[in-house]
Amino acid sequence: MTRTNTKFDFDAIIPRHATGSVKWDGLARVFGSEDLLPLWVADMDFPSPEAVITKIHERAIHPIYGYNTQESSLYQSIIEWVKRRHGWEIEKDWILFAPGVVPSIILSILALSEPGDGIIIQPPVYPPFFASIKDNEREVVENPLVFKDGRYEIDFEDLEGKLSNHKNKLLILCSPHNPVGRVWREEELKKIYELCQEYKVDVLSDEIHNDLVFDRHKHTVFASLGTPVCKESVTFMAASKTFNVAGLNFSYIIVPCKRRRALIERWMQRLHMNRNNLFGVLATEVAYQEGDAWLDALLAYLEKNADTLVEFVRERLPNVKVIKPEGTYLAWLDFRAYFTDAKELEKFLVHTAKVGLNPGKNFGSQGAGFARINFATQRSVLLEGLTRIEKALKLKTARND
Ligand SMILES: Cc1ncc(COP(=O)(O)O)c(C=O)c1O
Repeated sequence: MTRTNTKFDFDAIIPRHATGSVKWDGLARVFGSEDLLPLWVADMDFPSPEAVITKIHERAIHPIYGYNTQESSLYQSIIEWVKRRHGWEIEKDWILFAPGVVPSIILSILALSEPGDGIIIQPPVYPPFFASIKDNEREVVENPLVFKDGRYEIDFEDLEGKLSNHKNKLLILCSPHNPVGRVWREEELKKIYELCQEYKVDVLSDEIHNDLVFDRHKHTVFASLGTPVCKESVTFMAASKTFNVAGLNFSYIIVPCKRRRALIERWMQRLHMNRNNLFGVLATEVAYQEGDAWLDALLAYLEKNADTLVEFVRERLPNVKVIKPEGTYLAWLDFRAYFTDAKELEKFLVHTAKVGLNPGKNFGSQGAGFARINFATQRSVLLEGLTRIEKALKLKTARND
């Protein structure tokens, strides 16, 4: 597929300071310094598609922002998007709405497991997975990814061991995977599916990055592997990453099994979580109806950024390692040749390089010596960030000589 990028300008810089942005205005709070180039938290420095902006403007003009409904057109836009972009046919009844993927994962943990149960995750992985389990009195069970033949892979032998322990009730899948950027192949997901069926472990499949997959790779919806659907799974999706509307707090959960859906809905009612952000609903619907061309152009731009990043690291940061991500707009940088101590790496990035990257250790102990970079920004900004790291590493090497 060739993607063209003529109609959309992802190179234009739109200042985000003083917009209440976590990424830009939260630097001092998170890193202890404001004077940083922010390449961290997972949102993009690009404007949403024009259709989304227009829709929000139009609705915002009406001065009353009371409780809102979810119209059948919203369901329809989701059903059609999931079919069109991912080849998965879902039914309206399977869809539940929520204020975000993390709260939905927590709801599902509460609904489908008991305190003390083990929940398997595959670190290094998105930090809230750990907290969602621990904060709800469940136990984190790690099935760490292994680095093999130049990419991260699943350790299936270890996974089978963990799945076969009857104390472990759920597996949280991160698909595509944050932070290592893997888009799991159908064969890999099938293996997980078969093992989970064998040991009767339900899968919570976080597919928030499902639309952000580069050419040559294909996202497979985990639940679509069942015949006709995997009833032992819960799928989490949203327009939030894809169309850069994370601040509008809206996502959806797809639960094909009636019994599991009822359990999740009961927890939603208990927590009064069955209300949704008016603007999030509108943005999702219109983005799914009209956003295909924008998304294709975005993917082309992001993939070029991924190539630029990998080339820069290979040529100018030779002792730092990176693998080109297959999806997401996040890359996992290995600084272990320079730093054995995670704290030293953090200090170096903030105080010497003056860039805000997510510390790798937050993604599990396997992440010590790594940092996650968000490359969903203008290419010039990305290059500025990488050049800062290059200069800082030169300074460090010169000091050590
Ligand atoms: C894998 C993954 N899940 C969930 C989220 C956040 O979802 P939400 O903001 O809808 O809670 C992120 C954000 O970076 C993510 O990377």
